Amino acid sequence: MIRSPMALALRAMNRLFTPEKPLTFFGHEAMIKLADLMVRSGSKRPLIVTDSFLLQNGMLDTLLAFLKQEGCDVSIFEDIVPNPTFAVVEAGISAIRTGQCDSVFAVGGGSAIDAAKVIAAASTNKKSLQRLAGILKVRETPLPLYVVATTSGTGSEVTTAAVISDTTTHKKNFFVDPKYLPIAAAFDTDLLTSLPGPMTAGTGMDALTHALESFTSLARTPATERDAATAVRLIVEFLPIAYRDPENARAREMVALGSFLAGYAFTRTSLGYVHAISHQISAHYNTPHGLANAVLLPRVLRFNEKACRDRFATLERMLTQDSSPGDAAQQASAFIHRIDALADSVGIPARLEDVQQSDFAAIAKDALAEARSSYAVPKKMRKSDVATILDSVVTGNRSVHFG
Ligand SMILES: [Fe+2]
Repeated sequence: MIRSPMALALRAMNRLFTPEKPLTFFGHEAMIKLADLMVRSGSKRPLIVTDSFLLQNGMLDTLLAFLKQEGCDVSIFEDIVPNPTFAVVEAGISAIRTGQCDSVFAVGGGSAIDAAKVIAAASTNKKSLQRLAGILKVRETPLPLYVVATTSGTGSEVTTAAVISDTTTHKKNFFVDPKYLPIAAAFDTDLLTSLPGPMTAGTGMDALTHALESFTSLARTPATERDAATAVRLIVEFLPIAYRDPENARAREMVALGSFLAGYAFTRTSLGYVHAISHQISAHYNTPHGLANAVLLPRVLRFNEKACRDRFATLERMLTQDSSPGDAAQQASAFIHRIDALADSVGIPARLEDVQQSDFAAIAKDALAEARSSYAVPKKMRKSDVATILDSVVTGNRSVHFG
């Protein structure tokens, strides 16, 4: 199965640094259970890393009351913004020093968790952020990190990576090291049920993309396949329910579990062309990550339809509980139609209005470079394939054909 240098590199890295699944709490009051674990582990001066919306809307009130009751001396850093920058992380490190903090407790989406990872590591490593960026640059053990994921999609709570923007170079910096993995994580349904519909849809489709890109990666292993397939099953079944019925705690919990498993699968296999293209679209037009992925996903599945026919057929048989071998081509096609229908059912648009034809060449060049350097994709794209996908994103035609 291993046919690419990137797949070989990922498999070798997995043997050396297979990340552990962090201990995770799900459901009602999961945030308090996580805080309880942190306090019982000896932390008394945590830095809470979050955004001002969550703080000012009272979402952290029970947490702060609990920590006060436990006698903790709490510092709060509430300056997290989408796509956090070096300046945001520097301010967080400064808050750690001022509060003499002994741990980091993040509450938020991928941006808060990514920033908290780097804040926790930079606080114990005497390096500039520029020197900490990259692969395996963390020498000293970071401050203990606990994370509460308030969206179900990024998978950051279970990955060994963080992405921080450098506003000087206008580039996203990847920080990758097993030491970035949180000690423990929580998906609290009391917080997840307040996630608005478009965020539920976008982050859920992002998690589904993680699962599918991992399931078709050439670096997959039996263990990553199992986690990715379970994630597909959970998200396909429960995302439409969570979208239609936001207060449905069971659906929220099942989507969160799917996101968690998808994140753990892709941190071992890496991703694919949906992410390679969506990262460039987000860089050009500031499109939300989940939305860009959700719009691109059916197009990239069609590009991979022949190369991944048996993969998609396996997932379709799993979802229909069909044990007969059947016609793999028909099953693969049915699976792609199923993902189309899922995107429709959660309000994902067929097109992205901001994408401009004049940017196609630059997006294609950078997307192919990202895929070449980071992903073990099942079939190589050419620039013309990316242009075909971008054209279909502009016209809104999901049933794209490749020459
Ligand atoms: Fe993603």
